[in-house]
Amino acid sequence: MTEALTRPDCAALDAADPLRDLRALFTLPDGVNYLDGNSLGVMPATAPARAAQVVQQEWGEGLIRSWNTAGWITLPQRVGDKIGRLVGAKPGELVVADSTSINLYKVLSAAIEIARQDHPGRRVILSERSNFPTDLYIAQSLAQQHGFELELATGEQIAARLDERVAVLMLTQVNYRTGALHDMAALTAQAHRVGALALWDLAHSAGALPVDLNGADADFSIGCGYKYLNGGPGAPAFVWAHPRHASRFWQPLSGWMGHASPFTFDTDYRPAEGVSRYLCGTPSVLGMSVLECGVDTLLAAEPIGGMAALRDKSLALTDLFLAQVDARCAGHGLRSVTPADRQRRGSQVSLACPGVSGYAVMQALIARGVIGDFRAGDGSDAEPDLLRFGFTPLYTRFVDVFDAVTALAEILSTEQWREARFNQKAAVT
Ligand SMILES: Cc1ncc(COP(=O)(O)O)c(C=O)c1O
Repeated sequence: MTEALTRPDCAALDAADPLRDLRALFTLPDGVNYLDGNSLGVMPATAPARAAQVVQQEWGEGLIRSWNTAGWITLPQRVGDKIGRLVGAKPGELVVADSTSINLYKVLSAAIEIARQDHPGRRVILSERSNFPTDLYIAQSLAQQHGFELELATGEQIAARLDERVAVLMLTQVNYRTGALHDMAALTAQAHRVGALALWDLAHSAGALPVDLNGADADFSIGCGYKYLNGGPGAPAFVWAHPRHASRFWQPLSGWMGHASPFTFDTDYRPAEGVSRYLCGTPSVLGMSVLECGVDTLLAAEPIGGMAALRDKSLALTDLFLAQVDARCAGHGLRSVTPADRQRRGSQVSLACPGVSGYAVMQALIARGVIGDFRAGDGSDAEPDLLRFGFTPLYTRFVDVFDAVTALAEILSTEQWREARFNQKAAVT
């Protein structure tokens, strides 16, 4: 339906967009059409002043007093409660801490311990073969330590593999390669029917689409601060445990900040009540303060429809991109691996590009200011090289989608991607 849209049509969609003013909450460099918020979100306009305030006043002048006077000590809970509003967690259920990888280690360890007690014979952690590698690596390490086995299936096979052998179902809600969205509520319910726990990585869904951890009755969850939450490079991550588990097991990284009373300096570890036990060491104050600026950009959408309105726009953007690629890049062999079905799509579109160097195409796009990224495949049809485009409804406009496809079509039709400068590999793709 949208393939016939022209640039003026897209400009009209932007003018009518009820979320259009949110873009002013960000600092976007001139000449950049940023379609990589699924990897690193754009800088909130408030971030530089907030960082300066933390460094100059809170640290520079307040010094150690700022743990109390500037509220540093409660940052994990305060920012955690704000993120909780975006993912269906109640106040006190979610904390900010460490990285996604480390938080996964904590909650997967807890899930394994619970499964050992409740279903002693079970040994299987079930996950998706194309889950993000850090998730698979952490699960491999824990499986080895605990005598468990990591079983991998394709996204489509997961439901059929969920049976009484499975101790923990560990999934990322939106696949980082394809942008395919799992039905969290349905898979969690199915996991529970067979007695398995459900652990969800929200790296590509928190801040990208409405998530309801309590509504889905999930068991554990973790997520990333620097993608759709716009928290800045290496921003701290978050961790959530359903209240029925939060106080049940000690987490393996039993650091002093997860102690019930850190400042009594007890010799013995006694975990805090609830999710605060998932803290480990001293919180990264600068990182959490800037992350809060990013989370606030999402909360700014609450009066104008919140995550539901952001989701509507995200789907309109990805619909438009898919239709424009179809209409204007035909004949170059591009193929979307992202579900056409809106119910099954996250907030990104990934294009397989057989016959061209996807890496070089992306470099040529970046040289024109259109920033997406490239993910190499294994060369097979099942796992092709991918051009990834993330659509962050807070700041991406319909004209940005149109302009990105214009650049892509030109690079393909002129074969500009063949230039040597676009074929030199950098460390980060
Ligand atoms: C699904 C998923 N989990 C985790 C991570 C990253 O984890 P960390 O922040 O610990 O590097 C990513 C990064 O892209 C991811 O896509």
